[in-house]
Amino acid sequence: MEYLTFSLLLSCCLKFANSLSSTETPQAPAPIPTEKLLVLTVATEETDGFHRFMQSARYFNYTVKVLGMGEAWKGGDVGRSIGGGQKVRLLKEAMEALADQEDLVVLSVDSYDLIFAGGPEEILRKFQQANHKVLFAAEGLIWPDKRLADKYPSIRSGKRYLNSGGIIGYAPYINRVVSQWNLHDNDDDQLFYTKIYLDPLRRETLNMTLDHKCQIFQNLNGAVDEVLLKFGTDRVRVRNTVYDSLPVVVHGNGNTKMYLNYMANYVPNTWNYEHGCSHCDDDVVDLSQLKEYPNVLVGVFIEQPTPFLPEFFQRLLTLDYPKDKLKVFVHNNEVYHEKHIQKFWEENRNVFNSFKVVGPEENLSQGEARNMGMDLCRKDTTCAYYFSIDSDVMLTNRQTLKLLIEQNRKIIGPLVTRHSKLWSNFWGALSLDGYYARSEDYVDIVQKKRVGVWNIPYMAHVYMVKGSTLRNELKERNYFVLEKLDPDMSLCRNAREMTSHREKDSPSPESFHMLRPPKGVFMYITNRHDFGRLISTANYNISHYNNDLWQIYENPVDWKEKYIHKNYSKIFTENYMEEPCPDVFWFPVFSEKACDEIVGEMEHYGTWSGGRHMDKRIAGGYETVPTDDIHMKQIGFDKEWLHFIREFISPVTLKVFSGYYTKGYAVMNFVVKYTPERQAYLRPHHDSSTFTINIALNNKDTDFQGGGCRFHRYNCSINSPRKGWSFMHPGRLTHLHEGLPTTNGTRYIAVSFIDP
Ligand SMILES: *[C@@H]1O[C@H](CO)[C@@H](O)[C@H](O)[C@H]1NC(C)=O
Ligand SMILES: *[C@@H]1O[C@H](CO)[C@@H](O)[C@H](O)[C@H]1NC(C)=O
Ligand SMILES: *[C@@H]1O[C@H](CO)[C@@H](O)[C@H](O)[C@H]1NC(C)=O
Ligand SMILES: *[C@@H]1O[C@H](CO)[C@@H](O)[C@H](O)[C@H]1NC(C)=O
Ligand SMILES: *[C@@H]1O[C@H](CO)[C@@H](O)[C@H](O)[C@H]1NC(C)=O
Ligand SMILES: *[C@@H]1O[C@H](CO)[C@@H](O)[C@H](O)[C@H]1NC(C)=O
Ligand SMILES: *[C@@H]1O[C@H](CO)[C@@H](O)[C@H](O)[C@H]1NC(C)=O
Repeated sequence: MEYLTFSLLLSCCLKFANSLSSTETPQAPAPIPTEKLLVLTVATEETDGFHRFMQSARYFNYTVKVLGMGEAWKGGDVGRSIGGGQKVRLLKEAMEALADQEDLVVLSVDSYDLIFAGGPEEILRKFQQANHKVLFAAEGLIWPDKRLADKYPSIRSGKRYLNSGGIIGYAPYINRVVSQWNLHDNDDDQLFYTKIYLDPLRRETLNMTLDHKCQIFQNLNGAVDEVLLKFGTDRVRVRNTVYDSLPVVVHGNGNTKMYLNYMANYVPNTWNYEHGCSHCDDDVVDLSQLKEYPNVLVGVFIEQPTPFLPEFFQRLLTLDYPKDKLKVFVHNNEVYHEKHIQKFWEENRNVFNSFKVVGPEENLSQGEARNMGMDLCRKDTTCAYYFSIDSDVMLTNRQTLKLLIEQNRKIIGPLVTRHSKLWSNFWGALSLDGYYARSEDYVDIVQKKRVGVWNIPYMAHVYMVKGSTLRNELKERNYFVLEKLDPDMSLCRNAREMTSHREKDSPSPESFHMLRPPKGVFMYITNRHDFGRLISTANYNISHYNNDLWQIYENPVDWKEKYIHKNYSKIFTENYMEEPCPDVFWFPVFSEKACDEIVGEMEHYGTWSGGRHMDKRIAGGYETVPTDDIHMKQIGFDKEWLHFIREFISPVTLKVFSGYYTKGYAVMNFVVKYTPERQAYLRPHHDSSTFTINIALNNKDTDFQGGGCRFHRYNCSINSPRKGWSFMHPGRLTHLHEGLPTTNGTRYIAVSFIDP
């Protein structure tokens, strides 16, 4: 009591003195030295948010004292219901020891959802300018008791209501505020402070006010539209555009945690344009220092017919990770894919530590299957990581597992995107009501204009979760995976917004099984490396025999990788082609797989023409030089074939017949079968084309004997066709040619008469 009187007295005198001197020479009070600032925060657990808070505090050299660590939290579910009294109780206990340090300034803040954007000097200067003994954060929304609104002093502008997430004041005054606490741990802290503040007498004697214009404290709840990131040379700040202030403490209160996560991807120095990512290499795991690699459970989810599935499994096989450390769990929901899995399993049954498949006969929902995969790792205490990957993810980076493990996060996904699209496996933001929202940085992250490890609200398709996280924060089963977006969300605005954002080929929302971060756990996506791409499963028609052949439009990159010869591009870089006869160019174009699958497709169709002159398939119905063939059109492949010609043949044409721009148009596109039993050769003829391509689809000697092509004008024969290689020669006038007899076995060629 004595002390109180003295202090009040002192402040009166100071006020008097100040006002006196200000009439003469306005003098700023001496700045409070930064060692006089103590940050107090209550945290009972070291959550990801707590570590982030401490990181920002360390960056600015704040002195922080943590209260309550290791204590059980009894303060209720703050945010959804009232609670938080435990925070006041702990602060009260801590303040008892500090009560007599008159010049000590105490800053009491939350830590799980709060970061610093500025340093101690700035906060002390602003505190001094506020000219009060105790300053509370303010916000525009009143909580928890709306009936108290009228009791608040009216203000001309600014945030009217008290928020207890941030308090700054002189130690004796803070002590006098919190020493009034005599409630329970689960009573509401904000209500407690509010009641003191709303009592005019106590407000005055304790010299309390609110930071109405966010000079120090920025509460994001209700204010998301007011704030922007402000990029500086070595630091990023939050700027309040309404009050034109640069708040020092940024608090993601209410349901703005995701928004704080977004801001904290930049503030205070997490990422900026000058230095890029500054914490990406913090706390990384050095795998080379480990005695052995950690066990990883790979969960593979085939939930819809997926193109290039055999290639997907091959990529799993070529991951650079000890295979005896990998257990594989496959959920296959498609009867169509059973043959692919069977084949892979037969060839690689002993490669992995284990390989378990749950097939379509189990009739598991997607959510059940995903939970089952996660559970396998959760229950196996030797499982260090759970790596979930959907069949539409083509991991092209063999180091993916190692890179993700090294990054050492509880949940992390590699960024994968649809080729040349903005579509990716994460969402950059959620609107406050939980719908999809576009984050300002989404496009830059997808296009790798900003590179780092990003805290994000939702992801899907591919991610890694630590086994220990599954056994702790995520130990409740079924908590994690969103079985389905709620119908409103998926069908209405969300689908629309997503479509406009993600371009026209947005998936049906039902196919979205996204991961949302569980309480207190941050979820990251990394774009520090190229990891791979998302393929399109839309428009995958599985009624053909080799369905991937038809994917040239939908998944052009994967199509090229599978079907185009590895040396094709050397045609242009190294002039990798031959000219065995004048103006007959010979170059690689198809892979073995392309040849085999085209032959397979034709034999599956099976109706060869028989090489008769009468041919209903062609205009006029008469073929002077008939072959035993099947037209591309007959198997529904003509559009795709012409696209192949435009994409892969036209560039070669331009190279060898310079100045000739082909239309890439052809009516006659077909596969010919030569065999001694049916048709073995073709008599000399011209083609009705400007130029012709003739691609060998199988191997001389292994598949057939004889064969080849002879050009009469030049007395020149090519006797050893190469599988996957194409001839290109003029069709009329100069290049009269014949098909040489196939003497044994069966020879297949694919032919097009281009620009007829
Ligand atoms: C924090 O302290 C260190 C060491 O004294 C100093 O180098 C650094 O500049 C300080 N950081 C800030 C933001 O003041
Ligand atoms: C609060 O204290 C400051 C000095 O720290 C003084 O100037 C101001 O008048 C006081 N306000 C009230 C309402 O007592
Ligand atoms: C599979 O599950 C679905 C929905 O759970 C059900 O409607 C259907 O009858 C089941 N099919 C079989 C073959 O059990
Ligand atoms: C799938 O291919 C078959 C055979 O070519 C065709 O009949 C069918 O119309 C195609 N389906 C779709 C949806 O395109
Ligand atoms: C590609 O060309 C190189 C020589 O340039 C050859 O060794 C290699 O076998 C070729 N690749 C294929 C798939 O034919
Ligand atoms: C054609 O070439 C062969 C050898 O390649 C030769 O024996 C033959 O005499 C040639 N014919 C003509 C008409 O030049
Ligand atoms: C024809 O090929 C088969 C196997 O492909 C072989 O067994 C046979 O000896 C061959 N016949 C001749 C005449 O080369």
